[in-house]
Amino acid sequence: MGRGIHVLVPLLLWVGLLTVRGDVSELDGLRDQPPIRIGAFNIQIFGKNKFNDPGVVPELVKILSRYDIVLVQEIRDSSETYIHKLVDVVNNSTRQDEPFSLVVSQRLGRSTSKEQYAYLYRQKYVNVVAQYQYEDTQDIFERPPYSVKFHSDVLEMHEFGIIGLHTKPDAAFTEIDALNVVYDEVEKRFGTPNILIAGDLNADCSYLSRTKMSALSIRQDSDYRWLINDSQDTTVGSTDCAYDRFIVKRNSSWLDNILPNSVHVFLYDDELQLTEDLAGSISDHYPIELQLRGKCEF
Ligand SMILES: *[C@@H]1O[C@H](CO)[C@@H](O)[C@H](O)[C@H]1NC(C)=O
Ligand SMILES: *[C@@H]1O[C@H](CO)[C@@H](O)[C@H](O)[C@H]1NC(C)=O
Ligand SMILES: *[C@@H]1O[C@H](CO)[C@@H](O)[C@H](O)[C@H]1NC(C)=O
Ligand SMILES: *[C@@H]1O[C@H](CO)[C@@H](O)[C@H](O)[C@H]1NC(C)=O
Repeated sequence: MGRGIHVLVPLLLWVGLLTVRGDVSELDGLRDQPPIRIGAFNIQIFGKNKFNDPGVVPELVKILSRYDIVLVQEIRDSSETYIHKLVDVVNNSTRQDEPFSLVVSQRLGRSTSKEQYAYLYRQKYVNVVAQYQYEDTQDIFERPPYSVKFHSDVLEMHEFGIIGLHTKPDAAFTEIDALNVVYDEVEKRFGTPNILIAGDLNADCSYLSRTKMSALSIRQDSDYRWLINDSQDTTVGSTDCAYDRFIVKRNSSWLDNILPNSVHVFLYDDELQLTEDLAGSISDHYPIELQLRGKCEF
């Protein structure tokens, strides 16, 4: 009798909660989802040579497979095949039940040296619902930002956009200073306030002095929050520069949805115990990363 009540009361509470929240079957399987990890990685001159370096590919596979969404930058490959080949290898060798899909930008750049951006994403967790190649009518950007809107059923934040940018080093100030305009345009087109700016902004050292940094519109405007700080080091080797950044708006849902202490520079040389030579053959940049809270019903 007493035992029956012990079981019954929580059961009634549980049913009551579900009724208040709505459709029971819809909630099934969507409770307490694990977080997903988002990365942004400049794989210095990624193309044929790097893909054919037998030491590098297995390490790139390990690094990329950490992520559920990763913005890859500095793809330089006129054949436009090697990023697909790399993702094939990743799909075949790790986390095979949750393979990557990818979207790739046009080849961008004013000179013959062009680059592409790619977003690798695991369709098991997120889908691409829109893409936008920034229309750079004033020719501000060497490689105009490439943005993607994601939808997810397993995250608290169902919809969000990412603006990917690899600035031209010598024009870092001008390009970063124009990002608030890009942000507004992407927010309008994607119809969500949840936008993340990500990438190798070259936002430090000789490309952006502290004086210039404090003059940036997107720095002066306190609506924006820079998640990788100026003292961090996103470069491999002896340099110490915070080139790669994440930037969000304070009043978007990002700050509530990023797991505490999950914004990192991924030091792959330390983590994978690589020699300095091998680490340098992979890239001159570390990936930056963060984790987003999974959907949680209670
Ligand atoms: C694996 O990688 C390729 C990249 O070539 C991608 O297009 C594909 O959708 C991925 N998924 C599977 C299941 O192979
Ligand atoms: C990946 O697996 C598919 C299907 O088994 C195969 O067709 C493809 O050749 C493999 N690719 C690589 C790079 O191993
Ligand atoms: C910058 O971030 C690092 C890593 O999170 C932290 O250890 C350091 O204290 C921060 N520095 C400043 C000036 O906020
Ligand atoms: C955030 O603030 C801007 C103005 O600074 C406003 O236009 C926008 O609607 C706000 N977004 C949210 C989600 O409150």
